[in-house]
Amino acid sequence: MADTLTITDNRTGKQYDIPIKDGAIRATDLKQIKNGTEDTGLITYDPAFMSTASCRSRITFIDGDKGILEYRGYPIEQLAEHSTYLETAYLILFGELPTDAQLKEWTKQIMLHTMLHENIKKLMEGFQYDAHPMGVFLSTVGAFSTFYPDAKQIFDEQSRKKQIHRLIAKVPTIAAYAFRHSIGRPYVYPDNDLSFAGNFLNMLFKMTELKYQVNPVLERALEILFILHADHEQNCSTSAMRGIGSSHVDPYSAMAGAAAALYGPLHGGANEAVLRMLNEIGSVQNIPGFIKRVKAGEGRLMGFGHRVYKSYDPRAKIIKRTADQVFAVTGRNPLLDIALELERIALEDEYFVSRKLYPNVDFYSGLIYQAMGFPVTMFPVLFAIPRTSGWIAQWEEMLLDPEQKIARPRQLYIGAKRREYVALEKRS
Ligand code: ACO
Repeated sequence: MADTLTITDNRTGKQYDIPIKDGAIRATDLKQIKNGTEDTGLITYDPAFMSTASCRSRITFIDGDKGILEYRGYPIEQLAEHSTYLETAYLILFGELPTDAQLKEWTKQIMLHTMLHENIKKLMEGFQYDAHPMGVFLSTVGAFSTFYPDAKQIFDEQSRKKQIHRLIAKVPTIAAYAFRHSIGRPYVYPDNDLSFAGNFLNMLFKMTELKYQVNPVLERALEILFILHADHEQNCSTSAMRGIGSSHVDPYSAMAGAAAALYGPLHGGANEAVLRMLNEIGSVQNIPGFIKRVKAGEGRLMGFGHRVYKSYDPRAKIIKRTADQVFAVTGRNPLLDIALELERIALEDEYFVSRKLYPNVDFYSGLIYQAMGFPVTMFPVLFAIPRTSGWIAQWEEMLLDPEQKIARPRQLYIGAKRREYVALEKRS
């Protein structure tokens, strides 16, 4: 017998058998539950989508209680150990690891599209010298839709593929230009002889030398960080990408919205907030006082807690290891001692233990980025570069899913009942 949920409506005495599939009931199956002919049917109320699946997806699997993260079935630990960002992006987008020939062709296509239109450069020059690079990033991604009107052909597979190549290839260039703009240095054109991460470092940090020498430890660390951030199923920015994309707008416009969602301090801005917090704490002696304030509800321990992970975020473990390798090259980040001590205390403290608050991906990533020479304002941009592959994979999956329609949640109206307009002079 198929799994069902039997609901008795006490208002009418009627019983309903609602099918359960893949551990879920369809909210629309509740519509048949009506209290009288005027009733349009029962709906569910779920602010912040705490308990509502909005899609079927084959891309990323997370078991938050067990601390498991897999892309297309491959554990994140194995990908971080053996893969590169471009290979992982291919996996996320196309569902399988590429063959040697496929990887070469994919890499060639991506590296072919790393340059930006010169007018994009002019557009970026229009920003204030102190513009936040994430604001520059999301505006520039949105502006792309005007440069590539062919991107409107969202149901043309070849056109979609082209936008995928462009987006993955160009986001590091936009990010690097935004960074160079913020420090008043000339933009560096891509060097396609280098790897994806190596070229990014080149566009960020090259000075007058003819050929930028990539440090292999930093290059690998960046690849790992990119792999870890490539996708994370239906998070805030991905839901934004799917939600905006469901109106059938072009992927650049949808991705500008996704990047805007990532900008927020509760999402991609969290590692920036972690560093600010560590700087504010200032020294290990101040930690007990800080923890006390957090427990009293006067602020949060940034980089701790996650909507899905109720155990140690698997990405945080990998990042912690990577941090040691990076610090061996760059020198130890002095804020690391504060972070380690905060983590030690929080993992023993009843407040954090009972709420299952563990370090998330952002707790250590900011320390690495800072040691590599990035200002904190670049952190969300560094997140957006690899997340581009996840966003567009999820966008394409949404477009090709025959069950999807324009996203349009319901509401429970609790405002004023109908009333008559009052002329201005009669209002008290
Ligand atoms: N510090 C202190 N207390 C916390 C924290 C924290 N970082 N996170 C959650 N709590 C407490 C809440 O106050 C609440 O306590 P209560 O039950 O006594 O009211 C309880 O834990 C549950 O918290 P919620 O806010 O309901 O959890 P939610 O799943 O909505 O929030 C979130 C998840 C937003 C990530 C939250 O843990 C947070 O704000 N963390 C800090 C910001 C952060 O690191 N964000 C990065 C997330 S990872 C990413 O986006 C890549």
